[in-house]
Amino acid sequence: MTFIIAIDGPAAAGKGTLSRRIAEEYGLHHLDTGLTYRATARALLDAGLPLDDELVAEGVARDVELAGLDRSVLSQHSVGEAASKIAVMPAVRRALVEAQRAFSVREPGTVLDGRDIGTVVCPDAPVKLYVTASAEVRARRRFDEIVANGVPADFLEILADIVKRDERDMGRADSPLRPAPDAHLLDTSEMSIEAAFQAARMIIDAAR
Ligand code: C5P
Repeated sequence: MTFIIAIDGPAAAGKGTLSRRIAEEYGLHHLDTGLTYRATARALLDAGLPLDDELVAEGVARDVELAGLDRSVLSQHSVGEAASKIAVMPAVRRALVEAQRAFSVREPGTVLDGRDIGTVVCPDAPVKLYVTASAEVRARRRFDEIVANGVPADFLEILADIVKRDERDMGRADSPLRPAPDAHLLDTSEMSIEAAFQAARMIIDAAR
């Protein structure tokens, strides 16, 4: 059976960095599933299509190519907002989850990160991590990242945005964000990315 590592958690918790690091360390394929929702949203926006028509959004989701998904072209705030709106639609989720599951069985193994990997996409994954941090810490990290790129940012606006995104991700009826019962919780509020990686490594090595 393919070795699958499922990594879930709220926006800006550090899942992305941690997942890439783990995939590199263990030689596994990595899929950032947030990009599949972002690519769907971006395609709808670019085509001037509505964000509230489930059938239209499902059709676009079915056309998303996993190869070549690139966060740098999908990182805009408007795309993230639109992604979390279409992510409440069951038909969109079914289409994307199908593609994500097909990816998850690639040999020799995979790391998938998102919101529902351990609960819905790969419930049998032998390693599940739920990576979180307080909303304030996540907002601070995002703020520092934006400012480091020379762009002005408003901390309170970023914090409000993160809180709103959490509510939408945790409150939706289909596949809400929550830790799987057998997930290892990793609260990175007071942890460096290196410390989080070391903690994850111990969990992964114990499961291999
Ligand atoms: O992770 P990222 O912020 O790029 O994801 C964008 C949005 O896509 C999230 O706010 C969430 O609503 C949705 N998403 C999801 N399930 C996943 C990954 C992302 O619903 N597995």
